Amino acid sequence: MNTDIVKSLLFRLPPESAHHLALHALNLAYASGISRFLFGTPPPAPRTVMGLHFPNPIGLAAGFDKNAECINGLGSLGFGFLEVGTVTPHPQTGNPLPRLFRLPESRAVINRMGFNNLGVEHLIKNVQQRRYSGILGINLGKNATTPLENAVDDYLYGLQRVYPHADYITINISSPNTKNLRQLQHADELQQMLQVLKNAQTTLAKTHQKYVPLVLKIAPDLTQPEIVTIAQICLENQMDGIIATNTTLSRMGVESVQHGQETGGLSGAPLTTQATEVVRLLTQTLQDKIPVIASGGVMTVADVQEKFAAGASLVQIYTGLIYQGTGLVRQAVAAVAK
Ligand SMILES: Cc1cc2nc3c(=O)[nH]c(=O)nc-3n(C[C@H](O)[C@H](O)[C@H](O)COP(=O)(O)O)c2cc1C
Repeated sequence: MNTDIVKSLLFRLPPESAHHLALHALNLAYASGISRFLFGTPPPAPRTVMGLHFPNPIGLAAGFDKNAECINGLGSLGFGFLEVGTVTPHPQTGNPLPRLFRLPESRAVINRMGFNNLGVEHLIKNVQQRRYSGILGINLGKNATTPLENAVDDYLYGLQRVYPHADYITINISSPNTKNLRQLQHADELQQMLQVLKNAQTTLAKTHQKYVPLVLKIAPDLTQPEIVTIAQICLENQMDGIIATNTTLSRMGVESVQHGQETGGLSGAPLTTQATEVVRLLTQTLQDKIPVIASGGVMTVADVQEKFAAGASLVQIYTGLIYQGTGLVRQAVAAVAK
């Protein structure tokens, strides 16, 4: 497909409309059977991570398909795994529009979506109806109306509901768009929460006769000691994986571009190095005991290779898809398959 034409058409629309249209088009391409011809089959590049067998290590990051409405279409792009959500226990509308901004000069996006989603029951229905048979992660958040001190209840509820339907489950405590959410990354709060969730996972594994890995997604805006502390708490609580990173609050490099000062999380090219450094410090601290999934500014094949060189076991893409188009997935898989 000529990605330049598709991109220039989509970039004429407001960002959120373009996103919905792209999801719709992917679903249509899948339903009509043309996705196979459009996207082909990527070469095998198998990896075993967290006890799961991935056909390749390139995945879709959370937030692209919050309600799991486009699993089949996205699955046909050649990803080795998809992560849907963030989903919250109850539906919520998120922040007022506009809440998504393109910064084309910087190959970046700022979003303040605020976990807009149709709730966990809706997501589960969609997941149950999928035909995609690849690896599916489900990313959990808390409702905006749930007080921070009760956040663990929302994650626990989400965990219990999605457990039978997921290949892995991500605990997202790093979105900058839900008030105070990132405070859950502080040592005491994190320790308490992970203990509860790990106990629940152990019980659920027995009930469902299936072990579903539990993954923590963290922010890039942490000091080095904070990152080391988080890694140690994850080790103590036997977490199965860490995703590094979510979007950044930093505006370095985009201060003077249009929309550069919008409130929200910045993703794409300005985030690449910052997120890679978090991956590097985490993998040094974890010493292969917990795998790290890299997310943040993967815009090119070279970025993919840098994430693996920094120690990542898997890599996720979001903003790169907006700027490079769907071809980035196949290019990335081909590069790691060599
Ligand atoms: C519009 C948008 C919505 C996002 N929504 C979520 C979300 O719901 N949950 C989540 O964990 N991350 C979310 N993210 C963060 C991405 O999953 C990813 O971690 C981040 O954008 C960095 O990767 P990138 O530079 O490849 O985009 C979102 C990102 C964008 C751009």
